[in-house]
Amino acid sequence: MFRNRVTDVLGIQYPILEGGMAIAGNGELAAAVSNGGGLGVVSANPGWSPMTERIENVRRHIRRARELTKKPVGANVPLFFLDNFADHQVSMLIEEKVDVVITSGGSPKILTGTLKRAGIKMIHVVSNVKQAIAAQAAGVDIVVCEGYEAGGIEGADELTTMVLTPLVVDAVDIPVVAAGGIADGRGFMAAMALGAEGVQMGTAFLAASECHVHQRFKEAIVKSEDAATVMTQRILGRLSRVLKTEFTKKMYDMDRRHAIDELKELIASVPPSIIGSNPSPTINGQYRVQMLGDLENGDGAAGQSAALVRRIKSAAEVIADVITEAEAISRRWGEQASAKPANARNAA
Ligand SMILES: Cc1cc2nc3c(=O)[nH]c(=O)nc-3n(C[C@H](O)[C@H](O)[C@H](O)COP(=O)(O)O)c2cc1C
Repeated sequence: MFRNRVTDVLGIQYPILEGGMAIAGNGELAAAVSNGGGLGVVSANPGWSPMTERIENVRRHIRRARELTKKPVGANVPLFFLDNFADHQVSMLIEEKVDVVITSGGSPKILTGTLKRAGIKMIHVVSNVKQAIAAQAAGVDIVVCEGYEAGGIEGADELTTMVLTPLVVDAVDIPVVAAGGIADGRGFMAAMALGAEGVQMGTAFLAASECHVHQRFKEAIVKSEDAATVMTQRILGRLSRVLKTEFTKKMYDMDRRHAIDELKELIASVPPSIIGSNPSPTINGQYRVQMLGDLENGDGAAGQSAALVRRIKSAAEVIADVITEAEAISRRWGEQASAKPANARNAA
């Protein structure tokens, strides 16, 4: 069940993708997602390394994933990361023969030619219809439309998954995958009903046992309730959805008061995390929460779907639970469609 263009193009069992997660998406997690039947994806800088070492760090994680699975493995390339090291990064991805590259945060046009010539499938993450049409024209194989519910950096248009997905489905011919707010079989089936042919999940995999983020961060995700997250950094010109904590509530309050200097001071006040070379202040706050479990002194990205994550499970279990629930819903819908309405039965 659920075989479609996405599973065929990517050579995977279930149309479930692991979204790129900056410092969170390690090689073990990618392998576990792929072994569970989805597409495992190595993130942009797992665990964090200084910019000069980042590409070799990603290479190590891709190799680790390859050691642990024979199934397809992808890598995420946030396009704003394509700095002076762009050529080196592209060569590395080709040398390592990743099966898929998921780009985000920019135009995929600069990479489609080279990567597709190397036989690598391309997926691009969009947050509005115009970007989806441009991504299709650039030659990507699949678009992921990511709604405002998602964890991490959001598109400026603040479109929800529920509205964005059918609009993108109507606008392009290539397969569409929905992301943002999906963590169970109900979300999966909702995405399918909207015309998507797959889902991309971040937060649900963040709390998976193979993910290398700190146990305290995973437990905070599991404990979180309905209003699990806050949107921060609007006044700094970006939208960053993070887990709600005392620290991030302060960030949110500063946004509302337009207290730019106070917010910059708060971000800069986060204690350094690594001796020697430290991440930039914005990454440092993420590092403290995600890698050190210091929830009191930083901002950890997570989506609204954190409230739907009830237990730390293996990535394979996350996928199996989504599929089992989705199949049950599909059967129920089938039974409902074939059942005669009560009044028809009475009349007979
Ligand atoms: C901790 C975290 C970090 C993220 N970092 C990135 C990233 O580096 N690149 C990217 O394309 N998307 C990133 N995202 C978005 C995910 O790839 C994915 O689209 C999103 O999490 C889906 O919504 P969900 O959080 O409701 O599952 C991040 C999400 C999270 C939770």
